[in-house]
Amino acid sequence: MADGRDVTDVVDVVESKGEAACQGMVKFDPLQLRRVFGKFATGVTVVTTESNGRSVGITCNSFSSVSLEPPLLLWSLRKANLSYDDFVNAKHFAVNILASDQIDISSKFAKSGADKFAGIKFDRGLGNVPLLRDTTATFECKVDVIHEAGDHVVIIGRVMAFASSDRAPLIFSDGRYVDAIERPPLRTSDGDQSAAVPEDPLHQFVSVLLLRAFHSVIELLSEARSEIGVTINESRLLTVADAYPGSGLDELLPRTYLASSAIVDALRTLRQRGYLVVDPAGKIVVTDLGQQKVRAYNTRFKDLENYLFRSLAPDQIEAFRKVLLSIMKSAPSRPGTSH
Ligand SMILES: Cc1cc2nc3c(=O)[nH]c(=O)nc-3n(C[C@H](O)[C@H](O)[C@H](O)COP(=O)(O)O)c2cc1C
Repeated sequence: MADGRDVTDVVDVVESKGEAACQGMVKFDPLQLRRVFGKFATGVTVVTTESNGRSVGITCNSFSSVSLEPPLLLWSLRKANLSYDDFVNAKHFAVNILASDQIDISSKFAKSGADKFAGIKFDRGLGNVPLLRDTTATFECKVDVIHEAGDHVVIIGRVMAFASSDRAPLIFSDGRYVDAIERPPLRTSDGDQSAAVPEDPLHQFVSVLLLRAFHSVIELLSEARSEIGVTINESRLLTVADAYPGSGLDELLPRTYLASSAIVDALRTLRQRGYLVVDPAGKIVVTDLGQQKVRAYNTRFKDLENYLFRSLAPDQIEAFRKVLLSIMKSAPSRPGTSH
């Protein structure tokens, strides 16, 4: 779990304190607020420092650039983090912007208090701060000012050095790790098809066609999902719970490729709707209603495929499936980056 507690414990805390009061004029359910904050897609960083000879680091997506002259950046640190004292007492820190194949590093540094640097390759920078290797970019900073901000502090750093590579960045959106893939100019945002480009010279490249087809399919899948009334995160958890009956949330978590906060949110909603129950041993059980939902989901997806391939003969579809499998074998993608 990101904050060190067992996922299943947190579900119970969530459900008993879901309406916990927050300070200020308006009271919100903090979990819903967190979920909606998470709609803003960000990169993923690991912020590192050195504290009394110990290497310290946490996964962080609250990073933002602030100023060019002077060169400033910011990030916010949760007061409840074990590393809170290390960071607020530090003179230096580094922001390591993770590359798209560094999900495992993000997960490692999101675990509270664990020995996060074991097996991690890093160098030492200004103030002896660890600088992770093979990242997309690194900023080495001197702490400029720390502002109080509710249950977080905002740390503003002065950039003293920076470096970057061509490695594609890791993106975090709606509780999931995703890739940044350039959008093809096939549709305008209002769905106007007149912007289609039939004779694009790039269409000579099969890989470009594959990417563009992927975007079209993604849109259809998300339409289908919203018709069924489940979000991607909910459908991932429901499908995986159905496929691996008798598992606990901690066992299902890596199969869903969701962040722990996102799986807790999805579990809460699915329980409220009666699709899942958690038995006294912490095992997740898909109810009859949940199984109906999984079947509806599968049927809708099958219909979608039939529609997509309506002009192809079964042997062409089979040949296409083989081509896709062979691409995946020759250029294996890391799991969890798309549906
Ligand atoms: C994608 C992602 C982004 C996160 N962003 C932040 C952040 O901006 N600030 C923060 O304090 N914690 C953030 N966290 C949570 C910390 O990484 C997590 O609580 C970590 O366990 C803290 O470690 P510590 O308790 O050892 O200090 C994030 C977690 C994830 C998965």
